[in-house]
Formats: sequence, structure tokens, C-alpha cells
Amino acid sequence: MTYKQEHSHIDSVSKVSKLSKMPGLTIGDTIPDLDLETTHGRIKLHPFCAGGWTTLFSHPGDFTPVCTTELGKMAQYSKEFYQRGVKLLGLSCDDLESHKEWIKDIEAHTPDAKVDYPIIADSKREIIKQLNMVDPDEKDSCGNLPSRALHIVGPDLKIKLSFLYPATTGRNMDEVLRVIESLQKASQFKVATPANWKPGDPVVISPGVTNEQAKEMFPQGFETADLPSKKEYLRFTKV
Ligand code: BEZ
Repeated sequence: MTYKQEHSHIDSVSKVSKLSKMPGLTIGDTIPDLDLETTHGRIKLHPFCAGGWTTLFSHPGDFTPVCTTELGKMAQYSKEFYQRGVKLLGLSCDDLESHKEWIKDIEAHTPDAKVDYPIIADSKREIIKQLNMVDPDEKDSCGNLPSRALHIVGPDLKIKLSFLYPATTGRNMDEVLRVIESLQKASQFKVATPANWKPGDPVVISPGVTNEQAKEMFPQGFETADLPSKKEYLRFTKV
């Protein structure tokens, strides 16, 4: 028997593990046009998302502690999202009846929270597979639970940013708003946002923009960092 024949099982194991590690839906991909059952009625994902920004976020389950605080915070912040032209769409792997009962707890727990955004029901756990929102480590008797996934979908229906948190870590809605502002700045101007950027801070001019172009694009001016390399690539401006 040759070495290859003797070890052919290793080859197939590695193929399977590569397959199971293949990323699902991720940044740059078009969101699938799923038909969804939500607390606001049936929706199709493409018409829902088209032409604006959407934050699509999943939760491991109804009547669970971290999820209750997250949906409440999202509801408290919802106006901030709407003012920036962003729709909200939640998902939890229970049915609509359960979601409707759970919303009463969410609103009672978080002051001034009105859950005014739709929540998808995914009791068969099919939607989470298609949206790459499955937590490989959290299971119940029906199978894998959703992770705390969050996709920001752009007006062109493509995923612009994704977070993937485990069930034990609740998300920070200030961070969600911050990254939305960053994405929106980058879609409007040839800029990017540096480390620890906050709305209102200077942004950096994209590397592909020459200084000549930058003078035209940013009449408000820009400052170039004086670096040991003398390469003028770190240029700050305000937009
Ligand atoms: C929670 O929301 O608190 C939670 C849900 C599933 C597993 C762990 C925590």
C-alpha cells in the first residue's frame, strides 16, 4: 500500500474540516432574499433592505437574560438608527407568540424602550443557517442556537460589516452606531476612520487619493502626519 492510500482518510478528514470551516455569508456578500415571518408580518428581505441601511441582529433565544437587555437597548436607541436612515431587524429562534409575550418583558425592563422594530421568528433554525448566524457551541434540544450575530446591510443589499459574538457577551449599541457612522462616512467620501474613532473626530483620507485630488475633494483642508518614512500617507481631515 502506498503512503497516499494508507493515509487517504486524513485527506478526506481535512476536506470535511475545510468544508465545515468555510465561512458562510460574510462581508461583500449579497444578503439572500429570504421570505421571513416577523412580529410585523411577513417580509421579503430584499425589498425590506433595498435603498437604505439595515442592521440585522440575532439572539440565542426569547426570555433569556442577555438577550432581554440587548433588545431593550436596541429599542432605546432605535430613533438614533432611524435618524441615520437605518432600519432594525431582530431575530430569535422562537415563534411569534413567544416573541410577542417576550416583548412585554423587554419593554418593562428597559425604561423608555418601545420595541418598534420587527423580530424574525426562526423556530426551525433554517434562517440562521442561511444568514451565517449559528452558534456552534450553544445547543438546546432542537439543535444549535443563534449566535449574537449582527450584519449591517448597505443600500446595495451587500453586507458591509458583521459582528459575531458568543451568547455570553452582550453587544454595545454605541459601538453599533459608531460603526454605522463610519460606514456611512466611507460611503459618502473617500475616507476611512482610524482606531478608536468617534463621530466628530477627524477621519483619514483613503490611500488611493493623491494630494492633488485631496485638495479638490477636501476644500476644508487636511493635515499630513510627519512620519520617519516621509511618506505622506497619513492625512487627517474633517467631514
Ligand atoms: C442570554 O441571553 O443570557 C443567554 C442566552 C443563551 C445562552 C447564554 C446566555
